[in-house]
Amino acid sequence: MIEPEVRLFPDLDALSHAVADHFAALAQRLSADGRDFRVALSGGETPRTFLELLSTEPWARRIPWERVRLYQVDERTVPPDHPESNYGMIRRCLLDRIPEATANFRRMQAERPDLDEAARQYQETLGLEFQPAGERLPDFDFMLLGLGADGHTASLFPGTEALAETERWVVPNFVPQLNCYRMTLTYPVINAAREIVFMVAGEKKAGILSRVLENSGKTLPAQRVQPVAGRVIWYVDREAAQGLRRLAKKTE
Ligand code: 6PG
Repeated sequence: MIEPEVRLFPDLDALSHAVADHFAALAQRLSADGRDFRVALSGGETPRTFLELLSTEPWARRIPWERVRLYQVDERTVPPDHPESNYGMIRRCLLDRIPEATANFRRMQAERPDLDEAARQYQETLGLEFQPAGERLPDFDFMLLGLGADGHTASLFPGTEALAETERWVVPNFVPQLNCYRMTLTYPVINAAREIVFMVAGEKKAGILSRVLENSGKTLPAQRVQPVAGRVIWYVDREAAQGLRRLAKKTE
């Protein structure tokens, strides 16, 4: 596995601008090669500014939206119009502003009572739409991940069953810490991604970011994100990086 690259920014706003540039450049490059841009988005708070930026200039005009296919990394077991819905956040920050993106968005239907069936159907959608040519797994071109204060990423929380999943690409996952189920992509799909971007910002993440990046162990869920052939880039702000001994690549 290639060493993760850490890019340091003054704050979340600067970090979000940089990820928007990264996203747009990759979308344009793939489109120039006649390829779709297959993207998996996490929820939570951190991606909000990034997603909003994509719907503003210069990014909105630069991105070939007809080529962008959007999927979810994970979802809470709430209706799509619930304040906690990851889809709802993505819709408010991006899809409502870029109609072309809505047509190519595949929502995880985690509100359904039969979560196993909903997860199986989402996996089926991935299989059909990726048509992995000879590949066993969907290989996302860009996967946006966040980092929880407990070291979780996606909805792969410490001590939960989904951490051990090696076959299914999408599973329901009971999270005792939250006393609820989530739906999440699993490590086989996450680690098949070509490019994984972590966005981590704020003082509250300083401790966990140091633990994830500076301990050689693989005990924390985010540490097990180790793409087989892809690369991982950590976009972090100064507050989150304050505990890092390693010199993050300074990016103004
Ligand atoms: C979710 C996310 C989750 C998130 C982290 C960080 O459903 O909450 O997918 O993995 O990325 O919890 O969340 P924040 O960005 O809100 O700190």
